Formats: sequence, C-alpha cells, structure tokens
Amino acid sequence: MLHSRLSSLLLFAATCLLPMMSVISMESVVTCDNANDVQRLSCDNGVISVQAALYGRKNRMTCSRGRPQEQLSNTECTQEGTADILKRRCDGKMVCEFNTDIVRTSDPCVGIYKYLETNFTCLPAVHLTTCEHSYAHLYCDEGQVINVYGADYGRRDPTTCSYKRPASQVEDVTCSLPTNKVADSCNGKNSCMVKASNSVFNDPCVGTYKYLEVAYVCEYPVNAPGDSEHMME
Ligand SMILES: *[C@@H]1O[C@H](CO)[C@@H](O)[C@H](O)[C@H]1NC(C)=O
Repeated sequence: MLHSRLSSLLLFAATCLLPMMSVISMESVVTCDNANDVQRLSCDNGVISVQAALYGRKNRMTCSRGRPQEQLSNTECTQEGTADILKRRCDGKMVCEFNTDIVRTSDPCVGIYKYLETNFTCLPAVHLTTCEHSYAHLYCDEGQVINVYGADYGRRDPTTCSYKRPASQVEDVTCSLPTNKVADSCNGKNSCMVKASNSVFNDPCVGTYKYLEVAYVCEYPVNAPGDSEHMME
C-alpha cells in the first residue's frame, strides 16, 4: 500500500520535473589522474550542482593515450564517496577547480590508470547582497522552497555597499566569514528574512562596513511544502 502510494507520488514528481530537467542540461568533464591536470567546473549562469562523479575506470578508452594495456584492464573500478567530496567542495559555486589529489582517499584499483569524471548541472541561483544593518529577504515562488548554497558576511571588494562611507570603513577587502546561519534559518522555507548584522553573524572585522552575500536556489520541496515565514535578528 505504502509502496504503491510512494511510487505514484514519485511518478507525479517526475512528471512535474520533466519540463524543468530538459532545460537544465548536464555537463560531463573528465580529468586524467595527473597532478598537473586541473578539472574545472563552471557555470556562466547559476551555481554548480554535482550530480555524479567517478574516480577510477569504467572503460578502456578514457585517458588511455600512451598507457600500457595492463593499466586499462580493470573497467569495474570506482572509489566510493567521490561525488560527496566534490559536492562539498563545489556545490553552490560558479567556478570550482581542483586536481585528482583532492578526491583520492584510497587507491580503488592498484596498478590501473584512473580518471575522474564529474557530471554536474548549473542551477539558476539568486545572488543577493545586503548592506550591514539591512535585512536580506529571500523568497521563492509559491510552492517552492529556499535552498541556500552559500552565504558570506564581511567585505570582499571596496565598492559594494560603499556609498557615503569613509575609506577606512571600506578598505579592508579581506574580510570574509562564510556562514551556515542563513542556510540554517532559511532552508526549506518559502521566504525568510535575515538581518545583515554583527548581532547575527558576530563581527569578523571591527570597524569595516560589511555586507551579506547570499546565493540560493528555489526548489520544489522533497517533503511537505514549507510555507512558513521566518525572521532572524
Ligand atoms: C555522466 O553522464 C554520462 C552521460 O549521461 C554517463 O554516460 C555517465 O555514466 C555519467 N557519469 C557518472 C559518473 O555517473
């Protein structure tokens, strides 16, 4: 009973998502196991969302140039947890660069020449900048919920939120405090207010006039729709 309800629900969800998925295209990038080869994921619009990743070898052709046959012979080689490592590193960013050193946690097939294949999509993200003492208002269309991909309170450039501010308050551009507080307070909700203030985030650079940058996407909820409004001061 439960199972059939669940599968009809999933079918419903899949039908609804279909038009959206056909717009969001998947990109696949491959990097051979070589410390000098950089894998680069990037999104011109939106933010990276890693869908799947393989570190190992699944066929004989990929990254086979100049390699002896015995280094290509195992095509059932995968390292567990690779996608999670890349999700933690890249999700929510516009650009993400790394080499295979950062994914290698073990050697899943000794003697085999491996490669890293990453499949990702670009999710349309809202980028919101809120000057200190003001409120960031995150909101989504009806039925959708917020998923925060990144939030940073501080100052990374001299121009943002600089109007009528003395130079001494805008010259420190190395002030960065990535924070989970916006995600904790807003994820799963339809709309949400967060004050860009030291009382919420603490003060990462005393004397500097700061701002809060938030990148989030609006998604259809996995569970029940979260239509609550939340305020954080
Ligand atoms: C990435 O996508 C391609 C094309 O859809 C697919 O053949 C491949 O198996 C995917 N890779 C992973 C690691 O899932």
